[in-house]
Amino acid sequence: MSRATREVRTVEPSTITRNEDLGEGWFLLEVHAPSLAPRVRAGQFVQVKVSEGDDPLIRRPFSVSDVLPEPGDGAERIQILYQVVGPGTRRMQRFRPEEPVDLLGPLGNPLPHPEVPSNGLLLLVGGGIGVAPLHMLCRELAARADAPPHKVLLGARRRSLLVGWEAFERLGVDTEVSTDDGSAGHAGNVVELARRVLDTVPAGAAAGIGCGPHGMNVALRDLSLEREIPFWISLENYMPCGFGACFGCVIPTPDGSRYRRVCVEGPAFPTSELPAVF
Ligand SMILES: Cc1cc2nc3c(=O)[nH]c(=O)nc-3n(C[C@H](O)[C@H](O)[C@H](O)COP(=O)(O)OP(=O)(O)OC[C@H]3O[C@@H](n4cnc5c(N)ncnc54)[C@H](O)[C@@H]3O)c2cc1C
Ligand code: FES
Repeated sequence: MSRATREVRTVEPSTITRNEDLGEGWFLLEVHAPSLAPRVRAGQFVQVKVSEGDDPLIRRPFSVSDVLPEPGDGAERIQILYQVVGPGTRRMQRFRPEEPVDLLGPLGNPLPHPEVPSNGLLLLVGGGIGVAPLHMLCRELAARADAPPHKVLLGARRRSLLVGWEAFERLGVDTEVSTDDGSAGHAGNVVELARRVLDTVPAGAAAGIGCGPHGMNVALRDLSLEREIPFWISLENYMPCGFGACFGCVIPTPDGSRYRRVCVEGPAFPTSELPAVF
């Protein structure tokens, strides 16, 4: 049984404190959730009941991008960075401060903190909505005196879609960006940028975590296997329940002998455990 299924999941009636339009269809939702917030770790997610009624009926999963004022015992609020893509997120767009919202979580397993030598590098690669769990991970690393050397790479199609990168800079994290159209940072995709950065790291001294759109995840997986780098990819499969009951989120093992539920065994997996097609 995974760590996630042993944890106490709370359905917490919570109160919205902020739902800010960040532009380009991105929103920052902040919720006062004092019994959930202290237990959330980077990489975990919550299922949000987006509607009072049954339209849409199924909760929607979102990574926690931050807990405030600090991760840990004193945390009272959680933040979710979300992109409006369909009916559920369109409904969330209408959330207003002081309204109640029902959250189920924390769900899934925390992201690992891979160790690397002092001349090495832990590479955190995010694309699109994948920035959310990486931001929370950087908050945890910032709280560690012995944090491994790490660097964040963020990619987007164009500059205006590089949502959230200022938050990494505020944390003092070494951050580089890439845009497909060259409007900011490296001109090209973020996996090319990762390849360049890895060229500067001694062999055997790198590790990585990635979270982004499917194509980025596949290219990162391939890069990590080619370079034999320990790497975890956080998946965002469609998740009807989020706690292991429906099998709606499964991926096969590499040898195809069984299925794994992304919600309880992930959402992050070492790339060596991902199937050829996922
Ligand atoms: C563990 C996890 C963490 C996530 N974290 C975030 C986050 O931090 N911020 C964020 O904006 N979104 C996140 N997502 C994705 C988010 O759950 C979906 O965007 C949301 O459920 C869409 O709901 P909807 O009703 O608006 O759109 P839907 O009508 O459900 O979907 C609209 C479009 O988005 C696609 N879609 C739906 N769900 C997903 C998904 N899980 N992955 C990829 N495409 C999808 C559909 O195929 C469809 O094309 C996460 C998903 C998972 C599983
Ligand atoms: S979402 Fe139901 S089992 Fe994973």
